[in-house]
Amino acid sequence: MDYDIIVIGGGPGGYVAAIRAAQLGFKVACIDKWLNQDNKPSLGGTCLNVGCIPSKALLESSHLLAEIEHSKELGINAKVSMDIKKMIAHKDKITAELTSGIAYLFKQNKVTWLQGEAKIVKSKQVLWTDHNNKEQTITSQNIVIATGSKPIIPSNMKLVKDKVLDSTGALNLKKVPNKLCIIGSGAIGLELGSVWSRLGSKVTILEKEDFLLSADSKISKSAKAIFKKQGILLKTKHELVSIDSQKASIVVNYKNQNNELKDETFDKVIIAVGRAPYSENLIANNDTGINLDKKGYIEVDEFCQTSASGIYAIGDVTRGPMLAHKASEEGVMVIERIAGQKTQIDHNLVAMVIYTEPEIAWVGATEQQLKEKGVAYKAGEFPFAASGRAKSANKTDGFVKIISDKNTDRILGAHIIGSKASELIAQIVIAMQFEGSTEDIIRTIFAHPTLSEAVHEAALAVDKIAIHSINKK
Ligand code: FAD
Ligand code: NAI
Repeated sequence: MDYDIIVIGGGPGGYVAAIRAAQLGFKVACIDKWLNQDNKPSLGGTCLNVGCIPSKALLESSHLLAEIEHSKELGINAKVSMDIKKMIAHKDKITAELTSGIAYLFKQNKVTWLQGEAKIVKSKQVLWTDHNNKEQTITSQNIVIATGSKPIIPSNMKLVKDKVLDSTGALNLKKVPNKLCIIGSGAIGLELGSVWSRLGSKVTILEKEDFLLSADSKISKSAKAIFKKQGILLKTKHELVSIDSQKASIVVNYKNQNNELKDETFDKVIIAVGRAPYSENLIANNDTGINLDKKGYIEVDEFCQTSASGIYAIGDVTRGPMLAHKASEEGVMVIERIAGQKTQIDHNLVAMVIYTEPEIAWVGATEQQLKEKGVAYKAGEFPFAASGRAKSANKTDGFVKIISDKNTDRILGAHIIGSKASELIAQIVIAMQFEGSTEDIIRTIFAHPTLSEAVHEAALAVDKIAIHSINKK
């Protein structure tokens, strides 16, 4: 065998798996075909090249601008403006630094980086085609598939250069569009909508369903009101019919909540209607024994083992949320299990974060899910409007909500909308990982004044003993 482990894909699933494998003494290669905008091989997959990191760079820049613009009440009088070119250059700089950082980590850990495309020929055999189309068959005891996902572009939504864009195009706009239409109000729609809205675009989001269906319903309701206040026009139960981009202004035709057809013109359109697993051209024939479902997801068990012995699949290309941290932890689990360890992960504890302002974060069950399942629960909430730290920063939108089992007190879920929700949620993930109860958080001493105190008070509110808000009977 050429290798102990071949990892296909160098995103947060694949590169983390490859590094962990090398740490454990395996001879490992990672085959990745990504080419960046300069046509150079680049590790990090979707997340580092065109996903998590570049989007957060634009969110940070635009957030800082909005913060300063809205700081008059804090005594700051400043006239600020945005240099879009510099903002994009900063995004590109940190992207390049982080992706080359992975290459450095590979080198130091002795992971072999094979640039190009992999195809699984049969169990233990992979065909590697490099970027010069040179083919080579390589063998390995184990194969980890981490090929990720790609944007869904339905047949009525063709991409058109500089006009109708996917998320990658939306990260590279050269100037702020006057009127921007986003199709889909998921994480991508909300994050990229926030970026361009803060920079001055009049943003309309068309969503065919209700808003943020997977979030706790009170969070969705609160988020909808806050985004409206920020000037983002959220049109739910509105389904796109067609996009006409022949003329300078793009005509978007949609069906509204009353099934009426409407036309509206925009300068740019961003399609953000979800992502699909990327499993095309990956498997040479049916002899491999790998099963794919109808949507192209690779079928795996709870340990990411496919139906073929020695072949695993992790990250976006398998079931579960399409999140970088889910991909990475699955990668670590698979490698450690190959090494004979008993590692497992709790998929119920993968937190979701939407990096708008305020941020939205949740983990575990929502109230509506518990009601549906007939689980007896108790819930408590604490508003940031009652937090001294949030008030100091003028960031009083939102609340923390904790839900616990009525009989055992074990925490079942937590839902936060508010400043730094992405950081606060980790406290509850840790408590849940330790199978903690509301009382465990209640008995924990939180520093004052911090936003984290809102987590403490929400736990107190579960038992109707919050100190800094009135406990609802
Ligand atoms: P990927 O990162 O997609 O990597 C797969 C790699 O495999 C790619 O490099 C691809 O080129 C390569 N590949 C595919 N097929 C082959 C083949 N046959 N041979 C060789 N190589 C192959 N998630 C978060 O958790 N937080 C965020 O803030 C966040 N923000 C996002 C923002 C945007 C705009 C987008 C689009 C996504 C965002 N995501 C975020 C989602 C996150 O990027 C994905 O969940 C994550 O990248 C999945 O990791 P992965 O390793 O499974 O796949
Ligand atoms: P998504 O699945 O989260 O949201 C897509 C939305 O588009 C849905 O609400 C859907 O109802 C709507 N939609 C579908 N067809 C439509 C139509 N014809 N007209 C109007 N609306 C329509 O997908 P999104 O936002 O594209 O993100 C893709 C993946 O990337 C997600 O799985 C997400 O988890 C991940 N991601 C994660 C981020 C984070 O963790 N902060 C940030 C960005 C992406």
